[in-house]
Amino acid sequence: MSDREGEPMLDDKDPIYPPSDEMAAGAHADRATYDAMYKASIEDPEAFWAEHGQRVDWIKPFTKVKNTSFAPGNVDIKWFEDGTLNVAANCIDRHLKDRGTQTAIIWEPDDASEEAQHISYQQLHAHVCKMANVLKGMGVTKGDRVVLYLPMIPQAAYAMLACARIGAIHSIVFAGFSADALAARVNGSEAKVVITADGAPRGGRVTNLKDNVNQALLHCDDSVQCLIVKRTGQEVAMRPQGDVWLHEAEDGISNDCPPEEMNAEDPLFILYTSGSTGMPKGVVHTTGGYLVYASMTHQYTFDYKDGDVFWCTADVGWVTGHSYIVYGPLANGATTLMFEGVPTYPDAGRFWAVCEKHKVAQFYTAPTAIRALMGQGDEWVTKYDLSSVRILGTVGEPINPEAWNWYNDVVGGGRCPIVDTWWQTETGGHLLTPLPGATPTKPGSATLPFFGVQPVVLEPTSGEEITETATEGVLCMKDSWPAQMRTVWGDHERFEKTYFSDYKNYYFTGDGCRRDADGYYWITGRVDDVINVSGHRMGTAEVESALVAHATVAEAAVVGYPHDIKGQGIYAYVTLMGGVEPTPELRKELETWVRSEIGPIAKPDLIQWAPGLPKTRSGKIMRRILRKIAEDDFGALGDTSTLADPSVVDDLIENRMNRA
Ligand code: WT7
Repeated sequence: MSDREGEPMLDDKDPIYPPSDEMAAGAHADRATYDAMYKASIEDPEAFWAEHGQRVDWIKPFTKVKNTSFAPGNVDIKWFEDGTLNVAANCIDRHLKDRGTQTAIIWEPDDASEEAQHISYQQLHAHVCKMANVLKGMGVTKGDRVVLYLPMIPQAAYAMLACARIGAIHSIVFAGFSADALAARVNGSEAKVVITADGAPRGGRVTNLKDNVNQALLHCDDSVQCLIVKRTGQEVAMRPQGDVWLHEAEDGISNDCPPEEMNAEDPLFILYTSGSTGMPKGVVHTTGGYLVYASMTHQYTFDYKDGDVFWCTADVGWVTGHSYIVYGPLANGATTLMFEGVPTYPDAGRFWAVCEKHKVAQFYTAPTAIRALMGQGDEWVTKYDLSSVRILGTVGEPINPEAWNWYNDVVGGGRCPIVDTWWQTETGGHLLTPLPGATPTKPGSATLPFFGVQPVVLEPTSGEEITETATEGVLCMKDSWPAQMRTVWGDHERFEKTYFSDYKNYYFTGDGCRRDADGYYWITGRVDDVINVSGHRMGTAEVESALVAHATVAEAAVVGYPHDIKGQGIYAYVTLMGGVEPTPELRKELETWVRSEIGPIAKPDLIQWAPGLPKTRSGKIMRRILRKIAEDDFGALGDTSTLADPSVVDDLIENRMNRA
């Protein structure tokens, strides 16, 4: 019945794929274990987390476990608050005795003909200590901020761990973000140092990172220093002051750097993420709870076992890379694979070539990549030996059944459980996810909560908790989990307002969801003005403010629309200044403009010239209408009678850009 070879079991509607008996028998958790542990985690969180808090090494053991409040005006989240530890010591030093020569990081370069690197835990220790000493030499001390703007190279992991070792707070800026976006984050976090590289090769093309940094730092305090990793060897412009090459600074430096004793609640990192309003906010994660949760989810969700090679294809610029390339795997003494390139270079078989080459056991990627690859044909997959792969994972957006089935059948050969992990930058780790040996999966559902997680579905307008199992509404969390974000950097009020004010005493995720009769959660997408483009979170307000910053643009409204590969595409309605001609050249120019203001991921897919936008008499743009038109679903616009000028809608429909 449950051998996973081929056919799913069917209940009355959704196909359901139970774990094979073999998978269940060998896994960290089978169904009974999951049920018992979940129950224990909810009935007595203190006892549960007191026990599982022991999975990391503490310098001074904690005596307090959980001290959290979602109360209006008093949101305060602390875990293990009197314990002390160091994250780098947990991710490196504690493994040296038993697995010093084991590979910690396998690095696979962009260019498939360049040799991969295998970095052992011993070597990792030396690299991290050296970089930590360089940072100290630059005046970085406990609590200082360091921005990382790096390619996917081992030095990105060294830099994260070097910061953690000396108690500095890192803030990674995805290397695909523009100089302007970088400057905003350097200033927002008041960073002392930016760590970058000369260039970033990706898909055979090179981004001149140091040039971007130079441009960004023109808008920052003169005292900001820059540490540069030599990756490509290309010519770079060094600033007259404050620029240091890493290899020169490390020359002759000690590879001994004692780890700083950190409180569990000291910040580990800041990561900027987009919201529904305003500029991106700095999500703050702290030390103890984050590490416990990242390592525990890594072990259970992926059924990670000693000797497995774990590959998460994300970039360290996103939270997925923080938790499941670096901190979770390394805390568990795993071998983690770091890939510099893209899925389609040199060809559409690259992912599977890398899985075969490095005998990957767990493969974790985004639905958008799966959709892009399934269009290239099965041969790109089937020509490789994927027998080492045991578990497949997805993250970042809902996965459509076609993509799920292809992933299951063609990549997994019908023998690998798929873990569809739902979480957020704010949550630090998986909140909803199947466990490979425990949870029957349904294509498109992130299934059930992880240990300690209490999801609730609220009625959107009343905020009432819906107790019927089968229902639909907004997804909130009733109580805290150890890796929950603690605050918005420098703005605790914004933290409370964003996550705890719409629905009092709950953490509001911003997602809508359905819960089926089996209690399975199905994420239906964001209920706010955040869109999800290729698994990347984008605030429509950010793209709008980039557009209106252009001299020709009077007004702009941005919405998402369904996109075959990206999940959602970016649809911009643009009203030009009086007298400006809407031309194809101007459209190109605006695209380039948004790329340079934010980054290539924010480039609008469709720009519609809008003589006017649908507004209420009080001047509020009716986004619901704009969404419908962008979806090419204007038959059901709903009530437009409150519009100041209903005729603008006819023009928008007539000239819509997305036609089936
Ligand atoms: C938003 C969070 C968490 C790492 C990557 C994204 C959407 C995330 C899933 C999933 C459906 C998902 C949600 C969420 N999302 N995972 N498995 N199924 N939707 O992190 O940039 O903070 O975005 O991504 O809408 O709120 P993020």
